[in-house]
Amino acid sequence: MLILAVESSCDETAAAVVKDGRYLVSSVISSQIPYHKIYGGVVPEIASRKHVEVISSVTKLAIKKAKIDIKDLNALAVTYSPGLVGSLLIGINFIKGMSIASKLPIIPVNHLKAHIAANYLVFKNLKPPFLGVVVSGGHTSIFHVKSYTDYSLVGNTLDDAMGETFDKVARVLGISYPGGANLDKFAELGNDSTYKFPVPKVEDESFNLSYSGLKTSVINLVNKMKMKGKIIKKEDIAASFRKVAVKNLVEKIIKARNKLNLHNVVIAGGAASNLLLRRELKKESLVNNFKLYIPNPNLCTDNAAMVGSQGYFEFKSGTIADLKLNTEFIVKHN
Ligand code: KG4
Ligand code: ZN
Repeated sequence: MLILAVESSCDETAAAVVKDGRYLVSSVISSQIPYHKIYGGVVPEIASRKHVEVISSVTKLAIKKAKIDIKDLNALAVTYSPGLVGSLLIGINFIKGMSIASKLPIIPVNHLKAHIAANYLVFKNLKPPFLGVVVSGGHTSIFHVKSYTDYSLVGNTLDDAMGETFDKVARVLGISYPGGANLDKFAELGNDSTYKFPVPKVEDESFNLSYSGLKTSVINLVNKMKMKGKIIKKEDIAASFRKVAVKNLVEKIIKARNKLNLHNVVIAGGAASNLLLRRELKKESLVNNFKLYIPNPNLCTDNAAMVGSQGYFEFKSGTIADLKLNTEFIVKHN
């Protein structure tokens, strides 16, 4: 089954062709980062306009690269939520137009489930149940993935997401947007014991996390150092911050996986590229005897291939949208 998928939830316009949910036929990503950089973050209005400008050519290119014709497709998949509403609507309406012209069915796909599905494209034998963790700019969520479509949220950040926290700390250190990946590189060169930042504590039965206290304490320290004219060694602050940020998440992942007794742990989302997170989880997988799945960085960041993969499994479970599709989709069971 060949699916054309479109993703436009934030600052990447992407289209891809995916076969049977497991094989990436083509993928095109057009990043808007240069347009948002000068503002230090994503500007929703600019994001929507840029999606409008390129969505058609990005999709045409994905079809061309797949060496197929629209007639060869079996369905269209699109991210419907969560994300910037204006941006999501560009993808949704574009796909509705394609559906009217081609008579192909529309499959609505949740962005977080799509991030997890990136792993199905890499690890061909991976199947639920497993613990699924999405670490991105907007989310830090731990799921018990019971089937390809049935997810139960077992832990979530109560405030900031991990990627967002990295971006904000990067900004105060003068690292340009989106600073997460660059801060990670600075951290590789620093001494992680130079500063002691508070380890966030959320004491409840869930596996919830918090990042805002950690973020504030790093920002306060840097601002104080600036006021006192002290030399700020980015590398040491980055390394000391990253150590705590990653520890915070890894501890919750291990607790959740032990409690739910799941053998497979699947990580996804932009911040899953984090070098320390990957190393620590690898270590823990050996100590705690679980199997770890993380895609390469090109499939961690927003893309449409992951939407095509999840779209396949949604289609198989009977999820289809009509032309009333909005950024909220209610699954109707017969
Ligand atoms: O999944 P994604 O592309 O978009 C969202 O759905 O949010 O994630 C982007 C986020 C940004 O906040 C970016 O700074 C962060 O992922 N990120 C990282 C790293 N690479 C990207 N955060 C920490 N360490 C990294 N190496
Ligand atoms: Zn994302």
